[in-house]
Amino acid sequence: MDPVDPHSYADSSQPFASHLALSLFFDFPSRTIHGSALLSLPRPHAGPLTLDTRSLSISSAIDPLSSTPLPFSLSPIVDPIKGQSLTITLPDSALASVLLTFTTSPQASAIQWLSPPQTALKTHPYVYTQCQAIHTRSIFPCQDTPAARLQYTALLNLPVELSAVMSAERVGRGRPEPGQARGACLDALWCADTRVVESFNMQWPVPPYLFAFACGAITGRDIGPRSRVYSEGSSVLEEAVCEFAGVEEMVREGERLFGGYEWGRFDLLVLPPSFPYGGMENPMMVFLTPTVIAGDGTGAQVVAHELAHSWTGNLITNTNNDHFWLNEGFTTYAERRIVEAVQGEEIAALSIGIGWRGLLEEVERFKDNMELTKLKTNQEGIDPDEIYSQVPYEKGFQFLWRIERQIGRPAFDEFLKKYIATFKFKSIDSDTFVEFLKANVPGIEKEIDLQLWVEGTGIPSDAMEPVSNLYTKIVSLSKDFVLGKLPTEEDVLDWRGQEWELYLENLPKVLDPSQVLALDERYRLAEHNYWEAKVAFLTLAAASGCRDYYGMMEKTLKEVGRMKYLRPLYTALVQGNSKDEGKILAKRIFAEAKDMYHPIAQGVVESILSRHM
Ligand code: BES
Ligand code: ZN
Repeated sequence: MDPVDPHSYADSSQPFASHLALSLFFDFPSRTIHGSALLSLPRPHAGPLTLDTRSLSISSAIDPLSSTPLPFSLSPIVDPIKGQSLTITLPDSALASVLLTFTTSPQASAIQWLSPPQTALKTHPYVYTQCQAIHTRSIFPCQDTPAARLQYTALLNLPVELSAVMSAERVGRGRPEPGQARGACLDALWCADTRVVESFNMQWPVPPYLFAFACGAITGRDIGPRSRVYSEGSSVLEEAVCEFAGVEEMVREGERLFGGYEWGRFDLLVLPPSFPYGGMENPMMVFLTPTVIAGDGTGAQVVAHELAHSWTGNLITNTNNDHFWLNEGFTTYAERRIVEAVQGEEIAALSIGIGWRGLLEEVERFKDNMELTKLKTNQEGIDPDEIYSQVPYEKGFQFLWRIERQIGRPAFDEFLKKYIATFKFKSIDSDTFVEFLKANVPGIEKEIDLQLWVEGTGIPSDAMEPVSNLYTKIVSLSKDFVLGKLPTEEDVLDWRGQEWELYLENLPKVLDPSQVLALDERYRLAEHNYWEAKVAFLTLAAASGCRDYYGMMEKTLKEVGRMKYLRPLYTALVQGNSKDEGKILAKRIFAEAKDMYHPIAQGVVESILSRHM
């Protein structure tokens, strides 16, 4: 046994599947998917082949050439983080492909099923996935590690009134055909008159966590030569078209900075409000929360981030989550370069400043487990959803920014382009990056303590805050608040959401309830249309035990399932100044809102509540 990834059963002494042909039959009434997966190996293999699964029921494993069944077994132990390993025994004569048939569980951790009343239009059901970090295995059996890249084709069989989108090239939509299901028992269901098949192709090798689909009453509108925005319903779509109008300009800036855009299309899908992240960089089709549509173009930052992953993360991927900073740190750096190019230096500086605050707070949060403040981590036995933090993003950003300062922007830009061109479509680890850096920037290790940055805890002393008048002004206004001074109307005249977010994030974590009320009376922050600002305010109110906002908190927690908002709000309620009341409220809200949350978010909130009850 040669593990490659602390979160996977995949064994590096066995070949990694290089192609997957998937057929998925969506059964909305039972909230399950019946599927078949034809996995192709790069070379014939004999003996055990180990795959990851979670809550999957496996019906058969077959040699697709002879149609003979192959012995397989699911491990009796269900690891709470990794799930169950599936071992198929390939004959001594060796095989280069295996066909598996399986059914997902209604509780599959990647999949959220929404009933019609839970959707915007209220007329059709909806289903979508979120696979990062380790949830693909709950949809189909695979070597669920980013070290194992694969190409795939997918046939999605849906009710004829629905349509599907995927993180892949759309090939077409048509009548189901016999044999497509590749599973005898499914053929009859597969070809019913009420069904349609949509087919997709991912021609580039991608890590399994980038697999994604959504299926519902989805429609789209073009917003650029290679971009279309999709959503359910019409009002969201109208707003999204305006909010993301600048998308092509960002793609062009990305190309100028990091090299050609390799994925063909750059489409956007706006999901129902329960989507657990701000954005997810699914290739060719970024998934976005509707909360990024603030109506003033500020949603562009999240789009810039997910777009930036097209180079850093999707082209160059971390081999496993221990090196997650290679994905998110580089992407945060690349995102800010794109933002700087399209929105200017001051806005980019605000974003760096908000990130700096976030980093300081995470280091405080992890003060009893400094291991989690390292860039290169050891996540053996750790659930990546549990330790999700700003550290890989912001410390990673700081590291790259430090290198940029050392060698100058032109040299760093050239280095980045070369890095991307060298490792594209590969999965690499931290050491590979450091070696590449040393080889291409001779002597860099004498100027910057690379080992301290990559393997040390906390924030190195050569990290820094942004230099910007706007940033400095806002931070000093936050300091004035402690002296009893609110910002004046003139101070806040041009403030959009991010300025308020930075201001609020720099206030003390707990205030007197009267101060919270005074701030809101003047500036109506509890109703701000920029969700980060609204949630920062409500978090402050909850932590300060300010009961006046319990109603607003409840409304917010029942409206969205984005974990960036759920985490601080639930935490502030259970830890805040009126803890007992806050705990009771948090528990009740969760009981009532739980069904609306994606399974990953349900797990995260459950863990926050159980830690504090
Ligand atoms: N890839 C992440 C989201 C993610 C990370 C999902 C880890 C699962 C596990 C995505 O690119 C991201 O970072 N989204 C941010 C956007 C922000 C940094 C602009 C988010 O969701 O808030
Ligand atoms: Zn990201």
